[in-house]
Amino acid sequence: MFQPTSGGNGGGADGVVPGGGAYRNGSHHVTGPRIRGGRPRRSRDHGDGFDPRVPPQQEKEKGSTPCTNYDVAYFHSYAHLGIHEEMIKDRVRTETYRNAILQHREQIAGKVVVDVGCGTGILSIFCAQAGAKRVYAVDASDIAVQANEVIKANNLSDTVIVLHGRVEMDVEIEEKVDVIVSEWMGYMLLYESMLGSVITARDRFLKPGGLILPSYATLYMAPVTHSDRYSESIDFWRNVYGIDMSVMMPLAKQCAFEEPSVETISGENVLTWPHVVKHVDCSTITIDQLESVSTKFKFQSMMRAPFHGFAFWFDVEFGVSKTHTSSNKAPPTACVEALDNDNDNNNNNNVTETTQRKKRPNPSDALVLSTAPEDPPTHWQQTVIYFYDPIEVEQDQVIEGSMVLSQSKENPRFMNIHLEYASGGRSFVKESVMR
Ligand SMILES: C[S@@+](CC[C@H](N)C(=O)[O-])C[C@H]1O[C@@H](n2cnc3c(N)ncnc32)[C@H](O)[C@@H]1O
Repeated sequence: MFQPTSGGNGGGADGVVPGGGAYRNGSHHVTGPRIRGGRPRRSRDHGDGFDPRVPPQQEKEKGSTPCTNYDVAYFHSYAHLGIHEEMIKDRVRTETYRNAILQHREQIAGKVVVDVGCGTGILSIFCAQAGAKRVYAVDASDIAVQANEVIKANNLSDTVIVLHGRVEMDVEIEEKVDVIVSEWMGYMLLYESMLGSVITARDRFLKPGGLILPSYATLYMAPVTHSDRYSESIDFWRNVYGIDMSVMMPLAKQCAFEEPSVETISGENVLTWPHVVKHVDCSTITIDQLESVSTKFKFQSMMRAPFHGFAFWFDVEFGVSKTHTSSNKAPPTACVEALDNDNDNNNNNNVTETTQRKKRPNPSDALVLSTAPEDPPTHWQQTVIYFYDPIEVEQDQVIEGSMVLSQSKENPRFMNIHLEYASGGRSFVKESVMR
């Protein structure tokens, strides 16, 4: 089932080191052909790549971790230019990475860098522009072939070495590196499970104390109200060209709200300060710690409203941060009025400070790429888990519960979400899979 890397836009093209290309004293050492592709979409429109229904057959190569059909589909989807165009056109994303790389010029100039999942090579080129001595641009997708062409066209072949293969096993780099840069974040931060590849690259290649960009990541959640969205999908069936189709409503709820929805919400939809689900220090996190992430939450609604579900978003920080007070941004719009009326602020009385999003004491500490509803939109948008039926909450009403995010056994790139929540004396369980 694996495709050879030569032919089409496959590997083995001039200058690309296929699979286990090792770099030794300035020369490329090819240890053998590898890799092929597959991937999850960032946009629902790139539907032809990542097919969750591909059976999880595994093929084991000698000396290599198994590459499942899911992995093949995952890398294949990243071979499509559309996904890279979408990511690069996301200026919030790409400019924050460029600024962060240039801001770390002192730690990058004259140093060796690995770009984990280089895609078109854009971050590798930013590192070269920041003065890196050598950049290993690694990608298992066939987009690596294009990356190499881009590197050549920009006369950077002496600095940027494209390695076509999985960073876990296929690629050999025979020197320790000073810096790892990677854009690995999926929806709800952890969907796609690419952080594991960065961790493996860190453990294989990074010098002790080396720099990882981004350095920290934080996943947030908050209760939301979104009557328009609910009406659009559900109430619509009440009156269809004058016909009562409300018998469709149970099915509509199931279809619309069974899976997490990637969509843009605004600060006005958010009912409380967010809760930190998980804070990740990229220099210390382990793969085991990512298999399952649990949290307990307790919110207090800041207004009377129908509570439709929970929204999730994340931010990442580039560089030094001593705490996980992960944003210098204001609270969601819906909360501002309530906070203004309470000078003690940090309102959720029963929620510990460390689980809340707070203002950073010194905003210049680290650059932050935020996907919060209050911030400029990104291609990640936000992810919302809607309930089948809204819960009417009063101002100050407590919403509490717990959540477990775990990698799907079926496909580790999928995420199982187990939510238990209670409010106003009623309790609920919601299971969903992000696929
Ligand atoms: C989100 S894209 C980022 C591309 C590029 N760095 C950018 O910022 O535009 C992630 C890339 O990582 C690659 N990738 C994911 N896991 C990988 C792995 N284990 N080994 C090598 N490449 C990987 C994918 O093929 C994809 O091209």
